[in-house]
Amino acid sequence: MDKPYLKQFPDENGFFGKFGGSFVPENIKKAMDEINVAYDLIAQNSDFIAELRKIRKHFQGRPTPIYFAHNLTKKYGGAGIYLKREDLNHTGAHKLNHCMGEALLAKFMGKKKLIAETGAGQHGVAIATAAAYFGLECEVHMGEVDIAKEHPNVVRMKILGAKVVPVTKGAKTLKEAVDSAFEAYLNDLDNSIYAIGSVVGPHPFPKMVRDFQAIVGVESREQFLEMTGELPDIVTACVGGGSNAMGIFSGFIDDSVELVGVEPLGRGSKLGEHAASLSYGSEGIMHGFNSIMLKDKGENPAPVYSVASGLDYPSVGPEHAYLHSIGRTKVATISDEEAIAAFFELSKGEGIIPAIESSHAVAYALKIAPELKGKKILVNLSGRGDKDIDFIVEKFGYGE
Ligand SMILES: Cc1ncc(COP(=O)(O)O)c(C=O)c1O
Repeated sequence: MDKPYLKQFPDENGFFGKFGGSFVPENIKKAMDEINVAYDLIAQNSDFIAELRKIRKHFQGRPTPIYFAHNLTKKYGGAGIYLKREDLNHTGAHKLNHCMGEALLAKFMGKKKLIAETGAGQHGVAIATAAAYFGLECEVHMGEVDIAKEHPNVVRMKILGAKVVPVTKGAKTLKEAVDSAFEAYLNDLDNSIYAIGSVVGPHPFPKMVRDFQAIVGVESREQFLEMTGELPDIVTACVGGGSNAMGIFSGFIDDSVELVGVEPLGRGSKLGEHAASLSYGSEGIMHGFNSIMLKDKGENPAPVYSVASGLDYPSVGPEHAYLHSIGRTKVATISDEEAIAAFFELSKGEGIIPAIESSHAVAYALKIAPELKGKKILVNLSGRGDKDIDFIVEKFGYGE
């Protein structure tokens, strides 16, 4: 029998087929190599594994449950809709799964400071939480547009003791925040670690973040079997950089289960109006890795837009590019309007307020469910929507 997929990919240089790798200046390459060596060491270490298990259970509150969305299933009259409740993970999203791992690694490497970027603020809150837990310094770079939109998360980061660095360049959103965090890291390589917020960046981050997020897939597979006696027919998740999607996909990748990544179509398919990188992009290198990206007329990242700050990124993790290129995953798009409608459907229909990011995956499930009677769809509900409520109510009212 072939080795399980997760043991085969990436290769030792961080490639998933032609995607991934490490395209960075020599000094960052050296720092990445050190992280890679340290990660390989501790990933096999029983103390590290035991420590992470303890944290997941007692600090994060894992396992998160799977919930059968009985009201929406009935209303849409087709496939059964199930939700993996990452919104119930401590800090309200899946991001803490990799942040606690990254911070534990930083501690092991003797680093004093965590540097990160954030879009929706969920990764920022999670990394600030991990820093507080381990007694590390923390600096989070965030675009000014997102600071205004995701105010509650900015307040949370500051209460947790993190320094929030406003980014004023370009579109002042996630891509510029990554640029700014990289620059800060370059100036402090010895003392700090760049705790990347998704399955993106140079090797070993796409692998490491996926491995830390794989707990979502491991739990989901076991829970779904226990709950229903079978595997889901379709597993779906929203894709920004792709960490929550890779997390849940990891549990089903060797099974014959359809895996669908949902990208943000924003206001439409014209370049600049969306951030659906896999759907409309082409091969290119950005932020140190080769993947599929949205480009302007030259080879530069194009401006992108989504109502969901956490999905507003002009590329996608290299593993998603690979899995899509070999046909193992599918990709779908959901517009702002459809995501907002799903936000209110889940809130009023089941009593769960989802993050706008996660609402994209919920919208996809609601869209396909009516035609799929007898099938089961598992949605990764990557986060809760408390951070979004001021913005939503101001722009869209109460959804009546
Ligand atoms: C709740 C939530 N879901 C999804 C995402 C998108 O990130 P990823 O594609 O890495 O899961 C974010 C990013 O901030 C988020 O906050």
